Amino acid sequence: MSITVLLGAQWGDEGKGRITDALAHEADLVARFNGGDNAGHSITIGNTVVKLHLVPSGIFRPACLNVIGNGVVVNPLNLLKEMAEVRAANIAVGPDNLKISDAAHIITPAHIALDKARELGAGGIGTTQRGIGFAYMDKAARTGIRAGAMHDPAAFGAAVQRHVEAVNRHIQHEYAEHADKLLLDSAKCAADAAAAAAQLRPYLANTFEIVQDALDAGKHILAEGAQAALLDLDHGNYPYVTSSSATVGGVLTGLGVPPKAITRVMGVAKAFCSRVGAGPFPSELSGDLALRLRGTGTNAWDEYGSTTGRPRRVGWHDAFALRHTVRLNGIEEIALTKLDVLSGMPTVKLCVGYVLGGERLRSYPQDMHVLTQCQPMLEEMPGWLEDVSTARQYADLPPNLRAYVERIEALAGARVSLVSVGPEREQLIRR
Ligand code: GDP
Ligand code: IMO
Ligand code: MG
Repeated sequence: MSITVLLGAQWGDEGKGRITDALAHEADLVARFNGGDNAGHSITIGNTVVKLHLVPSGIFRPACLNVIGNGVVVNPLNLLKEMAEVRAANIAVGPDNLKISDAAHIITPAHIALDKARELGAGGIGTTQRGIGFAYMDKAARTGIRAGAMHDPAAFGAAVQRHVEAVNRHIQHEYAEHADKLLLDSAKCAADAAAAAAQLRPYLANTFEIVQDALDAGKHILAEGAQAALLDLDHGNYPYVTSSSATVGGVLTGLGVPPKAITRVMGVAKAFCSRVGAGPFPSELSGDLALRLRGTGTNAWDEYGSTTGRPRRVGWHDAFALRHTVRLNGIEEIALTKLDVLSGMPTVKLCVGYVLGGERLRSYPQDMHVLTQCQPMLEEMPGWLEDVSTARQYADLPPNLRAYVERIEALAGARVSLVSVGPEREQLIRR
C-alpha cells in the first residue's frame, strides 16, 4: 500500500495541480483531502489551460479514479459548473471517474453570504469568499450538512432552505447595512440545491471504503493538497489562514488512512514566493521587481489568482519558511516550479533567515506579532540570462540556475527531485 502526498510548501499556487497531473500518470487514484473551491489548480495540456477547483487533477488520466474526500467542503452548484467546464475541454467526468465522499461537508449560498459579510468588515483577511471558513465552522459545531444528504434531493433542498433562512435572520440582525447585498432567496436556494443533488447523487460514495480497498489491493494513491502549509489552520500564519488542514496530518483525517500508508511526501515550492490575501510575508517585494515577478497578465501563468483573479503579492524565495514546512510535513522531495520566470534577472535573492531586534531567529515564529516584525536575511546569487523553457535535462540548465536550485535544497533540507521550467507536461525535469 502506498500513498504519495503532494503538498503546497509555501502560501499556495506553487503549481500543485500541474505536478499532480504529472504524477497522476503513475497513480490509480487521486484524492483531494482538504479545502474546497477556494483552490485553483491550473493544468496546461497543449493549448488548453484547465482550471480545477474541486475536481482532483487526476481527471486528465483515463486510468485514474478521482476522489473528493471527507475532509473537503463541497459547493454542489460550483462543482457542477466546474464539471461542465472540464467537459467543455473534452475531458470525461462522470460517476465512473469521480467520487464524492458522503461525509464531505456542503457549502451553501448562506456560507458564502457570511464569508462576504465578514470580508466587508474590519475582520476581513482577504478570503476567496467561497464560504470555506463558515462551512468548516458548521462542521466543527456539528450543525453542518454532509454531502450524503444529497441522496434525498428534496430533504437536502429543505435542509439548505432552513440554513439560508437562519442565516438571513442573522444577517438582518448583524449586517443590516449590507442586507440588500447579502440576503438570499431561500426558496430559490432550496430549488437549486435539490436540482444539484439530483445530478450529483450518482457520484456520492463511501470514499473511505474506496480508498481502503485501493490500499489493500496494492494500488497507488496520490493525495493532492490544496492551499499550503503556511495557510494551514493550525500551522499557518493564523489568523491569515484557511480553515482546513493543508499539512500532512490533513491527509490522515481528510481521507481516513493510517500514517504508515504514506510512503512519500513531496512539497511543491515556487522559485520565488507569492501570497494572495492579507498576512505576513517577510520577503515581499514591491515596485518594479514585484511587477517583474508577477507579470502583467499576458501569460497564463502570471501571478493573478486562479479563483479570484486578484493580483498575487510576490517576493523572493523564502528558504527559511520552506525549511519550516519541510520539517512540519516530513517533506523529503521538493518540486521546484517557475524557474523559467527568473530567467533574465542578473541577480536573484534568497531569504535564508529572519532577524528580530538584531537577533537571528532559530526557527520559524508561530507568534504573529513576532512574524510581522521580522526582517528577512537575503542572500544574493548570480542569475541566469538564458531562456530555459526548452531544457529537458537538468544538465542542460545554466550553472547559475543549478547553483540556485542546489542552494535551496541545502537550506530546505530536502532533495529537489523535480525542476519545472514551464507549465506544460514536457517542461518538467526529473532529477
Ligand atoms: P496550484 O494552486 O498550486 O495548483 O497553482 P496554480 O495553478 O494556482 O498556479 C500556478 C500557475 O503556474 C499555473 O498557471 C501553472 O500553469 C503555472 N506553472 C506551474 N509550473 C510552472 C512553471 O514551471 N513555469 C511557468 N511559467 N508556469 C508554471
Ligand atoms: P491553491 O490550492 C492561494 C488564501 C486566501 C486567503 C486565505 C483564506 O490554489 O493553492 P479562504 O477562502 O480559504 O477562507 O481564504 O487563504 N487561499 C489561497 N491562496 N492559493 C489557494 O489555493 C488558496 N486558498 C485559499 O487568499 O488569504
Ligand atoms: Mg492555485
